[in-house]
Amino acid sequence: MIALRGVTKRFGDNAVLRGVDLEAKAGEFLVVLGPSGAGKSTLLRCMNRLAQPDAGAMTIAGLDVIAGTRAADLRELRRRVAMVFQHHHVVPRLSVVKNVLTGRLGAVSTWSSVLQLFRAADVALALECLDRVGLADKADARTDSLSGGQMQRVGIARALAQRPQVILADEPVASLDPHTARQALGYLKQACRELGITVVCNLHQVDYAKEFGDRIVGLSQGRVLFDRLPGELTEAELNELYAGGAGRPGHAGLQLIEPVIVEDKRKSACQR
Ligand SMILES: Nc1ncnc2c1ncn2[C@@H]1O[C@H](COP(=O)(O)OP(=O)(O)OP(=O)(O)O)[C@@H](O)[C@H]1O
Ligand SMILES: [Mg+2]
Repeated sequence: MIALRGVTKRFGDNAVLRGVDLEAKAGEFLVVLGPSGAGKSTLLRCMNRLAQPDAGAMTIAGLDVIAGTRAADLRELRRRVAMVFQHHHVVPRLSVVKNVLTGRLGAVSTWSSVLQLFRAADVALALECLDRVGLADKADARTDSLSGGQMQRVGIARALAQRPQVILADEPVASLDPHTARQALGYLKQACRELGITVVCNLHQVDYAKEFGDRIVGLSQGRVLFDRLPGELTEAELNELYAGGAGRPGHAGLQLIEPVIVEDKRKSACQR
């Protein structure tokens, strides 16, 4: 489903991807870990051609991503490959189901999309996708009435409604608390497993990577440092991965906070 060979990408003097090889089968949930600046987002952006790779070969969902440069090639790529972002990118004042239906825009005619005319089958699909992420009862609610975790699940439902072959998720749970984050990743993984969608998911939390990844790829300074089954991954490999970067992040949901000497307890309680 995904095959990358020697993919490189530079921004000026900055060689961000330095020959990335990567493979994923249909239905696989691949997690990419790596320190800040390793090139994780750039890799995903190259995979759906939001960024243009400089060299290498890339086949995704049966399409030659690098050679197919016509507008029609790009449209087809974006139809087969859905994105899920950290900041869900939903339209707050639209209803939940309308947000999910925007995932169908690539599959309907221009006039239908301008007039927001969706077929009954598209609406049924949107409702099914909402059901998959546990939000069937919120279909008619305004999206800005939902919590952050629920909005992220709307983003996942919208990606599923696209009927993609691949989902690229860039830190999809970075802004969620641990319970909500695990719930969202669980919904994403279950839907993909049942529908045979391949997922490439950038994460900063090693715990989530081990819990949800079928495979874990470590990206360091634009190169694949390791490609492992979760059970195979060693502490030494993780330490090496984060050695050159900002350091290894704490366990999921825990932040390392400098100890603070609190003199006025009442005041500090108010500030919390
Ligand atoms: N559009 C751009 N123009 C110039 N440099 C860029 C651009 N996008 C990314 N970079 C650079 O590429 C490098 C990798 O960035 P990228 O966002 O891919 O890292 P990342 O692994 O996703 O980091 P993080 O974990 O912080 O999200 C960084 O040095 C960044 O400054
Ligand atoms: Mg990033």
